[in-house]
Amino acid sequence: MTRFVLLCLLALIATAATKGKGFGPGEQDYGYVTVRDGAHMFWWLFHTTADVADSSERPLIMWLQGGPGGSSCGYGNFEILGPLDLDLNLRNTTWVNDFNVLFVDNPVGTGYSYVENPSLFTTDNKQIAADLLTLMKNFYEQLPQFKKSPFYIYGQSYGGKMAVDFAHLIYKESRLGNIQSNISGVAMGNSWISPVDSVLSWAPFLYQVSLVDDKGEKEILSQAEYTKQVFDQGLYEQATDEWATTEYVILDKTDGVDFYNILTKMERGSSHNKRTIKQQAVDRQTYNKYYSSRAYDLDQLMNGIVKEALGIPRTVHWGSQSGDVFDYLAVDFMKPVIDVVETLLNETNLNVHVYNGNVDLIVDTPGQMVWINKLKWNESADFQTAPRKTIWVNNIMEGYEKQGGKFTMFWINVAGHSVPRDNPAGSRAFLKSMTGF
Ligand SMILES: *[C@@H]1O[C@H](CO)[C@@H](O)[C@H](O)[C@H]1NC(C)=O
Ligand SMILES: *[C@@H]1O[C@H](CO)[C@@H](O)[C@H](O)[C@H]1NC(C)=O
Ligand SMILES: *[C@@H]1O[C@H](CO)[C@@H](O)[C@H](O)[C@H]1NC(C)=O
Ligand SMILES: *[C@@H]1O[C@H](CO)[C@@H](O)[C@H](O)[C@H]1NC(C)=O
Repeated sequence: MTRFVLLCLLALIATAATKGKGFGPGEQDYGYVTVRDGAHMFWWLFHTTADVADSSERPLIMWLQGGPGGSSCGYGNFEILGPLDLDLNLRNTTWVNDFNVLFVDNPVGTGYSYVENPSLFTTDNKQIAADLLTLMKNFYEQLPQFKKSPFYIYGQSYGGKMAVDFAHLIYKESRLGNIQSNISGVAMGNSWISPVDSVLSWAPFLYQVSLVDDKGEKEILSQAEYTKQVFDQGLYEQATDEWATTEYVILDKTDGVDFYNILTKMERGSSHNKRTIKQQAVDRQTYNKYYSSRAYDLDQLMNGIVKEALGIPRTVHWGSQSGDVFDYLAVDFMKPVIDVVETLLNETNLNVHVYNGNVDLIVDTPGQMVWINKLKWNESADFQTAPRKTIWVNNIMEGYEKQGGKFTMFWINVAGHSVPRDNPAGSRAFLKSMTGF
């Protein structure tokens, strides 16, 4: 009975963009796209507040949260770069100041997106890319003025892994004339591009920053190497379990380090180290302390006043399928996409950026450098020999950058996993480099 009512309601909403007031300041569009029968994806566009006659004169940026299962419309919007923060105060460093920002609850099952049947959850990166392509076809039909706007995909963490396959697919399809999109670049922020390289980097990184002693380093490294061994045997789902176990060893040896910012001073008995690793990966991407001091809890917000303002059906509970989203991707989770990054560099004219906060642990910078230095494309030698330049903003050192052809790496200082929030000035620098604005 409940299920029947649910399906009826869903049928009503799975069509056009809602022209509503939205939630918070500025012009917004949002809605559901049925990307496959029974699989509904929610998107939320904030038009730029820049002083332009029409918002489409500025680039369109898609923001993809990680997890997999983390909600862009929730975490990305309210906690990282949207116009309002969790106190519902204006965030004066919001990306909406300069760009049109499109948050997508992706893959289906994440945030407000949902599937009517578990068989519709995505199980690999190609399927995720195909769903996003369907979403964008529908988006451009509804808002055709954006077809000419430069389109950039920014993904954080697992969102970066999803971004590279999606960028490749939308580039190919636009060349074939199957979609009109001015796809111009892709950026990977603290991204899960080569999971095994990341896992292997943890023990030495933790030792170097004094979060473990040599005994702790050895134990973490031993479990990390076992994870690689299992992965190399092709036991991909077990490799995901061993990844989680490696994180538990780290929590044990460090007594509960913040995986998303090693500089956080942890509180004794904080719930952080009791939460399951997978749930943390899906939900937080950053430590609870940030939230506990805020006026609103994201879950209450997204299932309360935001949901009401956007006219989301009551039967859709924000975040309720996120654990399933992760579990259905467990076989794909540890697989790298280095070859897709190479393909982007070999076969497209897209700008390809990597930016990484230097105090993140889960996707630490040393682990990123391992796969970046393995990349082979026709200008990789230029990248290797290029000078590394300092990023100065108002005479403050915000990080470093190094460029070879279409590929640029940005080392961002004093930033954890969520760089746009942790270092807005450094983020402006890489956004300007990508977009010219
Ligand atoms: C951001 O806005 C707040 C008030 O909302 C103000 O106190 C602060 O100085 C602003 N920061 C910047 C960098 O403009
Ligand atoms: C893509 O955007 C650039 C920069 O605004 C513009 O010069 C170009 O004409 C656009 N291309 C298409 C196909 O709309
Ligand atoms: C990209 O091109 C380089 C040569 O410049 C080649 O070694 C590499 O295998 C290519 N990668 C892919 C995925 O095609
Ligand atoms: C590398 O290939 C791209 C086209 O894919 C081309 O524009 C660029 O000039 C090439 N660079 C070198 C150094 O050959």
